[in-house]
Amino acid sequence: MSWDEAFANRYEEWSAHMTADVAFYVELARQADGPLVELAIGNGRVAIPVAQATGHRVIGIDSSPAMLAQARARAAEAGVELDLHEGDMRDLALDEPAALIYCPFRALLHLPTWADRRRTFERVAASLGPDGRFAWNALAFDHHLAARLDGEHQEEPTPHTIRYSVGDNRIDIIRDDGATSSRWWATKNEWLGLLDVAGLEPEALYGGFAGEPFADDSPEYVFVVRRRLSSDVP
Ligand SMILES: C[S@@+](CC[C@H](N)C(=O)[O-])C[C@H]1O[C@@H](n2cnc3c(N)ncnc32)[C@H](O)[C@@H]1O
Repeated sequence: MSWDEAFANRYEEWSAHMTADVAFYVELARQADGPLVELAIGNGRVAIPVAQATGHRVIGIDSSPAMLAQARARAAEAGVELDLHEGDMRDLALDEPAALIYCPFRALLHLPTWADRRRTFERVAASLGPDGRFAWNALAFDHHLAARLDGEHQEEPTPHTIRYSVGDNRIDIIRDDGATSSRWWATKNEWLGLLDVAGLEPEALYGGFAGEPFADDSPEYVFVVRRRLSSDVP
């Protein structure tokens, strides 16, 4: 699976509105005592501030050579070191256990099936140290919003149309030039089920990056989880 190169080339514009998450992941990284890993690191939008704030190298995995090239260039410009690897998050394997694995900006929604996510969560669980944490955020799908936006043409950040396939839990972002990128949304119970099968447990579920409690109308799942201790198993 690769990030459409056409989207990679416009990633700065697509991600420009997303800034609220950076301080959240930076704070988790500050609390971590050991290796830091970003799944689907993209252009280093979050990893670079994390490396700057902690003084530690961030291991970054991404399937897109174009995104990794951007991350490499931006890290060099910022004067920080990222340990970048081209690869698939479903195959995560680390040399040493991680203190923090994180996956910002809804990147887990690039995984189309439960099996893909289950495999990823199992790899994460196997890659965390005993006190390690896994954190990610993903949109809470809003049917009201989807009904309003389905098929509507938008000019910003680049001209595109969004379509929803409810049967496949899929959002297609179709640019006017034909480039299409898809996301597969998941419900809260799907996320909790993934934790359960992978041997993880929730530490916190926030409804946003300021640490607000998750509520019925929260637009985002912000999860922080850890490995389930064997003594916790009933
Ligand atoms: C929305 S961007 C997020 C980038 C970055 N984490 C951020 O917060 O700005 C999604 C990224 O996921 C990557 N990606 C998609 N599927 C992947 C997979 N199976 N394994 C690794 N990376 C993947 C894409 O190449 C892209 O860089």
